[in-house]
Amino acid sequence: MKDRIDQLVAEINALKAVSLEEVEQLRLKYLSKKGLVPALFDGFKNVPAEKKREVGQLLNELKNNARQKIDDLKSQFEQRKDVSAARLDLTRPVDNMEPGTRHPLSIVRNRIIDIFGRIGYTVADGPEIEDDWHNFSALNFPPNHPARDMQDTFFIATNPDILLRTHTSSVQIRTMETTKPPIRMIFPGRVFRNEAISARAHCIFHQVEGLYIDKNVSFVDLKQTLMYFAKEMFGENTKIRLRPSYFPFTEPSGEMDVSCNICGGVGCNICKYTGWVEILGCGMVDPNALDNCGIDSKTYTGFAFGMGIERITMLKYQIKDLRLFFENDLRFLKQFTGAF
Ligand code: PHE
Repeated sequence: MKDRIDQLVAEINALKAVSLEEVEQLRLKYLSKKGLVPALFDGFKNVPAEKKREVGQLLNELKNNARQKIDDLKSQFEQRKDVSAARLDLTRPVDNMEPGTRHPLSIVRNRIIDIFGRIGYTVADGPEIEDDWHNFSALNFPPNHPARDMQDTFFIATNPDILLRTHTSSVQIRTMETTKPPIRMIFPGRVFRNEAISARAHCIFHQVEGLYIDKNVSFVDLKQTLMYFAKEMFGENTKIRLRPSYFPFTEPSGEMDVSCNICGGVGCNICKYTGWVEILGCGMVDPNALDNCGIDSKTYTGFAFGMGIERITMLKYQIKDLRLFFENDLRFLKQFTGAF
């Protein structure tokens, strides 16, 4: 038995192959079920008991050696493959790739970030899958309050505490929970509402939230900030109009319209012949929202606003149907080539 093992060890050590196929032949000859190495294992039962330990060890060594050898032979050829890959002509010119275009919503989002960046706002992000606390409760929506119906929410059937955020206001809470004032930030992101898809609405859309918390912040600061934004976004001649409104997390609350830059305020179908287009909700942050986040509402005040990116993009580029943003039709997207 030992002699036979020695013989095989020598034989296997000397193995050579000129191709991957030959290596496979050798593997079959020595290592497959009916191969020479397993055949020796079959004979193991006839080895006298006192020799079993020694012979067993030798057999295992033989098997491991054989495997190693076959692997080494194989890798030789695999390396050769790499060598031939290196002969590829890497200096050949590549296929001409057409440059893509940025999506109009991204163009406008970047522009909004840029405009607020110039007056000291930084950017933060929050999760799209939210809990009730950040999307509603901390924002001063009491349980079962009808204000929750203003936003048709996608809940998870198995856990009513988990939902898809209906607005980026949830990031106000996340920021105030972890950041000490002064806070001057915007939060762009995707939001979700269970709305029928039409030319003016979609179940997925985008918002940019703004939040400014400090000592002595007043409504005048809010109005000035929004006026600056409207003029930067739509042009120097743009007018703004604030209408009273209601949101649970701001008091007082307002909605802001900008003069329709498509008809110049004369009236068209985009502004529904009013000369004004609504682009955002805003207000002074409700003291309850501040206190819910551990910010002392006696010391600090602030304002918040939230705007829909789709609406602003439609106004800016005179796009009449919101669904175009989500269809990825190249005829639409290519119109934004060169914009950055
Ligand atoms: N979150 C509100 C909405 O989506 C908008 C808003 C943001 C209003 C901030 C006031 C302050 O309708």
